[in-house]
Amino acid sequence: MRKILAAGNWKMNNTPSQTEAMITELRDKVAGAKNDVLICAPFVCLPAAVKAAEGSNIKIGAQNLHFEDKGAYTGEISAQMLKEIGAQYVIIGHSERREYFAETDDTVNAKVIQALKYGLIPVLCCGESLKQREDTVTFDFIRSQIKIAFRGLSKEDALKVVVAYEPIWAIGTGKVATSEQANEVCSDIRNCLAGIYDQETADGIRILYGGSVNKDCAAELFSMSDIDGGLVGGASLKCDDFSIICNA
Ligand code: 13P
Repeated sequence: MRKILAAGNWKMNNTPSQTEAMITELRDKVAGAKNDVLICAPFVCLPAAVKAAEGSNIKIGAQNLHFEDKGAYTGEISAQMLKEIGAQYVIIGHSERREYFAETDDTVNAKVIQALKYGLIPVLCCGESLKQREDTVTFDFIRSQIKIAFRGLSKEDALKVVVAYEPIWAIGTGKVATSEQANEVCSDIRNCLAGIYDQETADGIRILYGGSVNKDCAAELFSMSDIDGGLVGGASLKCDDFSIICNA
C-alpha cells in the first residue's frame, strides 16, 4: 500500500530565518497529518529546516546534489554533505534544472545513483513540454526519461525512488493537468517501470504529480489510482494551503 506524500519544493525562496519561522508554524499545522510530509528547501536553509522540524513528522530534503563524491566542482554540494546535515530526500532532474542548468538524462541517472549510495531518497522529476504534448510524444518522451534515470538500479534501489511527474506546461502557470491527464501519465510511468522490473516493484514505487497543485485540486488528484501525492511549488510557500494539501 503506497502512502500519499505531500512534498513541497520551495525552489529559490525563503532565507534561513524565514525557513525556521515557516517550519515552526507548519509543524503544528501538520502534526498528525494524513499524508507523509516533506519540505525541500534551498541548501543554506537546510540546517534551519532540519532543526525546526526535529521531533515532528516533517521530513527535509534538498533540491539538487552533485553526482561525484567530492572534488574540484566549485559551487556544488555533495550527497555526503546533505546526509550529514540531516537531509533525507533530494529532488533530482527538476525541469528547471534541466532547462536552466543543462542537466541531461545521463547526469540525472548519475545523481540518482549517487543519492542512493548515500542513503538519500531521490525525488526524480520527469515531464513533457507543451510542444511535446501537442506533438503527441508525451508517453515516448517520459518513458525515455524514466528508462535512462533508472539505468543500473537494482529492484531494491528502484523501490526507494519517488518519481514526480511534472508536465512543464503546468509548472507555475496555474494550469493544473486534469486528474485524468495526470493519472494517465503516472499510470504509463508505472507500466514502464513494470517493464523494466516487474509489476510488484512498479506497484511499490510512489509516483507524484506536480504542476500548480493547490489546496482545491489536491484531494481529487491524490484520489487517482496511480497518483501517490504531489510535488508542490507555489502552494508549499503558504503554510495554511500546504497543510490542507498534507491532509488531502
Ligand atoms: P508549482 O506548484 O508552483 O506549479 O511548481 C511545481 C513544481 O515545479 C514543483 O517541483
